[in-house]
Amino acid sequence: MKVLSAASELYPLVKTGGLADVTGALPAALAGEGVAVTSIVPGYPAVMAALDKAALLHAYPNLFGGPAKLMRGTAHGLDVIAIDAPHLFDRPGNPYLGKDGKDWPDNAQRFAALARAAADVAGGINKHYRADVLHCHDWQAALGPVYTRFLGGPKSVMTVHNIAFQGQFPATVFGLLGLPQQAFAIDGVEYYGNVGYLKGGLATADAITTVSPTYAQEICTPEYGMGLDGLLRARRGMLCGIVNGIDTDVWNPAKDSLIPSCYTARSLQKRAANKRALEARFKLEPDDGLLHGVVSRLTWQKGMDIFAASLDALVATGARLALLGTGETAIENAIFDAATRHKGRIGVIIGYDEELSHLMQAGADTILVPSRFEPCGLTQLYGLRYGCVPVVARTGGLSDTVIDANDAAMQAEAATGFQFSPVDEATLEHALCRAADCFADQKLWRGLQKRGMEQDVSWARSAAAYAQLYRNLVKA
Ligand code: ADP
Ligand code: GLC
Repeated sequence: MKVLSAASELYPLVKTGGLADVTGALPAALAGEGVAVTSIVPGYPAVMAALDKAALLHAYPNLFGGPAKLMRGTAHGLDVIAIDAPHLFDRPGNPYLGKDGKDWPDNAQRFAALARAAADVAGGINKHYRADVLHCHDWQAALGPVYTRFLGGPKSVMTVHNIAFQGQFPATVFGLLGLPQQAFAIDGVEYYGNVGYLKGGLATADAITTVSPTYAQEICTPEYGMGLDGLLRARRGMLCGIVNGIDTDVWNPAKDSLIPSCYTARSLQKRAANKRALEARFKLEPDDGLLHGVVSRLTWQKGMDIFAASLDALVATGARLALLGTGETAIENAIFDAATRHKGRIGVIIGYDEELSHLMQAGADTILVPSRFEPCGLTQLYGLRYGCVPVVARTGGLSDTVIDANDAAMQAEAATGFQFSPVDEATLEHALCRAADCFADQKLWRGLQKRGMEQDVSWARSAAAYAQLYRNLVKA
């Protein structure tokens, strides 16, 4: 079974969030299921630099405004096709935004090119490769199923990692796409008179998945569906939720070269050295009290505005906080202000730092994830694996992956963390108090940590579910 995976991010080549972790980890997990995944990605400078033994697969004289070459090679063990189109992708930094922090004005062309090339390759534009299934991730690749539906190609899967980002463009963009006129319709890319890339992918894919069972239900409701819930309800039979796993080699506390002190569930006392290192990095007063951690985009989705407003209460519980993140300026400022008020108790590093994110999971006592919505969430999975107890909002994948420490779950020795709902200051502060109370009883706390570390957060089960989905499609 050959699957072409199309996405705008691929760990470790290019990453702004969990999408990259997923597309980067799935190929190895699927190999064990007899599925050979090839990943097609835009040829950003970092991608072109990482590509090894690249051979020309196809040359376009003109792909959305300039010549382009599809180069197939390997990178970090992945089988990669890079779209070497300098006029679209030879731009350093963030894959979506220019230096001014705004979307590139030609993003409609850039990501139509990704989808078009993916559909062409999957359909066998080069006679040496043809995919059995084209698997497209998020709006940037979402025209893939539209192209295969209207121009021919294999069966397609559309995976929604975050329905808040839909790729909507004015109707004039339609003329650039090279699609037949009938694709500008309700069962194509037309969306309230404009062009909707994700809408088109959802309308035309042979199967739709999202990254947790709860989010699969949520996006069928007006509250979470962001305008696409009606379409998803109509196509509910095609939709399923497959929870994300994590790369348990990259994230392994027993063998993590990015942390000072490796440990297992049986040597949790060794985490103390990581906690000291974390305190030093964040200029926190060293002590053995509760240390909360946050690794997050600082955005409304992540509930970080509410979190910023709860920081005095967090300190009042006697706990400390180390926060690593970057995002909206107003939220960054509010967190900075709190750190100034609570020197030594709240430490903040604004930025994106993959290496430090490992130390956070290995040294903090909790990982806080107060998201308003969360399709899956990966940081709580890293937390479980690292004995860093998740304190999460009860939504989406967070509610599917963390078992709340209520009385029944504690008695049954099943709890792995804390959940709260709805997301507001009062419920968040209550959860922080519950965590502090539990932490005071180290025996109970160790139980949470150990059970979390025993939980299977690998890709094993979910890779099997994707493989089964592909097989069903090919059979149908
Ligand atoms: P999302 O993709 O919505 O941001 P996820 O929890 O699925 O949320 O994935 C976030 C990924 O990005 C995780 O791998 C997390 O460790 C990483 N991450 C987020 N912010 C930072 C940061 N400031 N520095 C390093 N890694 C980060
Ligand atoms: C998106 C979601 C996140 C999910 C990730 C990978 O970024 O916001 O919840 O874990 O995709 O699927």
